[in-house]
Amino acid sequence: MLAKIISGALAGIDAYTVDVETDLCGGLPKFEIVGLPDSAVKESKDRVRTAIKNCGYAFPSKQITINLAPADTRKEGPAFDLPIAVGILVCMNIIKAKNCENAFIIGELSLDGVARPASGVLSMVCHMKNEGVKTMIVPFENGEEAALIGGVDIVAVKSLTEVVAYFNGGFTSTVDYRTENVCLETPPDNPLDFSDVKGQDSAKRALEIAAAGAHNVLMIGPPGSGKTMMAKRLPGILPDMGFDESIETTKIYSVAGMLANKRALITKRPFRSPHHTISYSALTGGGRVPKPGEISLAHNGVLFLDELPEFQKNALEVMRQPMEDGNVTIARINGTFTYPSDFMLVCSMNPCPCGYYGSGPKCACSQNEISKYLNRVSGPLLDRIDIQVEISAVSYDDLGPNREAEPSAEIKARVLQAIAMQNERFKDDATRFNAGMSSRQIEAYCALGDKERKLLKKAFERLNLSGRAYHKILKVARTIADLDHRERVETAHLSEAIQYRSLDRKYWG
Ligand SMILES: Nc1ncnc2c1ncn2[C@@H]1O[C@H](COP(=O)(O)OP(=O)(O)OP(=O)(O)O)[C@@H](O)[C@H]1O
Ligand SMILES: [Mg+2]
Ligand SMILES: [Zn+2]
Repeated sequence: MLAKIISGALAGIDAYTVDVETDLCGGLPKFEIVGLPDSAVKESKDRVRTAIKNCGYAFPSKQITINLAPADTRKEGPAFDLPIAVGILVCMNIIKAKNCENAFIIGELSLDGVARPASGVLSMVCHMKNEGVKTMIVPFENGEEAALIGGVDIVAVKSLTEVVAYFNGGFTSTVDYRTENVCLETPPDNPLDFSDVKGQDSAKRALEIAAAGAHNVLMIGPPGSGKTMMAKRLPGILPDMGFDESIETTKIYSVAGMLANKRALITKRPFRSPHHTISYSALTGGGRVPKPGEISLAHNGVLFLDELPEFQKNALEVMRQPMEDGNVTIARINGTFTYPSDFMLVCSMNPCPCGYYGSGPKCACSQNEISKYLNRVSGPLLDRIDIQVEISAVSYDDLGPNREAEPSAEIKARVLQAIAMQNERFKDDATRFNAGMSSRQIEAYCALGDKERKLLKKAFERLNLSGRAYHKILKVARTIADLDHRERVETAHLSEAIQYRSLDRKYWG
């Protein structure tokens, strides 16, 4: 007898259907899984056999063949245990085939038959719903995550026994998984507030512009001036995520197996700050069982690289293409796959190994040491930074107890107004923020008058700018104009934007 169970696998962050076909026939006892299984799928045989026995059924001593179709894609991970076990039980007539005809099943099994959570369930349920599947059998821990999609029946099971009982009419999922009942993760109040940062008005202004248009920023300055401190306060002034953005980011965390409580939608923009010892595959993603890297975990949020020159150069270089494209393509033996990676890059660094080049105390480094240090950050990477900002040492007076600094809430209010202008501007486009504008959009939304054009031409020649830098200046100027509630980019906006592209000439010459 042949049974067909609907299951799924991941390609990047999207899912595709895998049909788990089970055939049971007489002959010498044999248990075989075909369809390019990786080693985890092979191990599945042992888990399935033991789990079925431990649930109280005699494992059939027949010839069992499992085919995972389509056969030409590589299936990873242990999540086919449950559909395989159900397929065998259907062939054994313990479950009626007709009852699981239009049901999707996913999950790993432990030896005692307990259903273990799977990665990427959100993407799978999303795909299955589009395919018209009505019932989703998922491990209990994945239940609320699966229910985020809405409009389908989620049956969250704790064990193989519960799956059998469900199909035979004896078990209904105890939790009511209608979408209205799923609690969205409420972002905790960000305890880090800009009011802690004294002075540094120009740096804060630069970060406000960055937050308002999703621009990349580089902060360069002496030790102890507040660079790390300010970067960590960025999440408190970023706009809230829209529902679509939330789903996208949650899918990535689901695929990475990193949904903190296995249920909540991620509603807060991610802020990732990997250590500088990170390998390039951890940064961009990959691995034998592919996992999104930091640049994808930062999707729709911030990737903060503190002490930029300390990062391995090749790790930084592989980020270049993903930064342009907003997604990263990873090539593997069995084809390529893509993860989204649209993030705002925030970097901080000292200008030299001792840290004091160009500021108050005397720098102890030789010219050679300084250029060697700075050159760890490549020209092409620098060119991708929209806003370069020099941080000076904080003054004694600024640190005084009576100095008031503006709280994050006030800064965020201005950011949100600028975002509202962008929402209106891009309402018919896929673009979300000024930083993501195409050349055509730049032409349409950053039209310059005569005076502004002359100013930009002069800067272009004086600073020897690249074509990319030219476009970045216009995008930043657009954001500055948005913060100023202006329809047109004016001279003041443009000259401030140009000033944020001047540091590479100062330090990198
Ligand atoms: N502008 C500031 N206002 C208030 N406190 C500050 C300011 N700048 C620095 N500090 C204090 O100094 C500490 C160190 O600052 P921070 O780590 O941000 O420096 P940094 O610029 O990142 O230095 P480094 O280049 O060494 O990494 C902060 O935790 C804070 O206590
Ligand atoms: Mg620091
Ligand atoms: Zn120095």
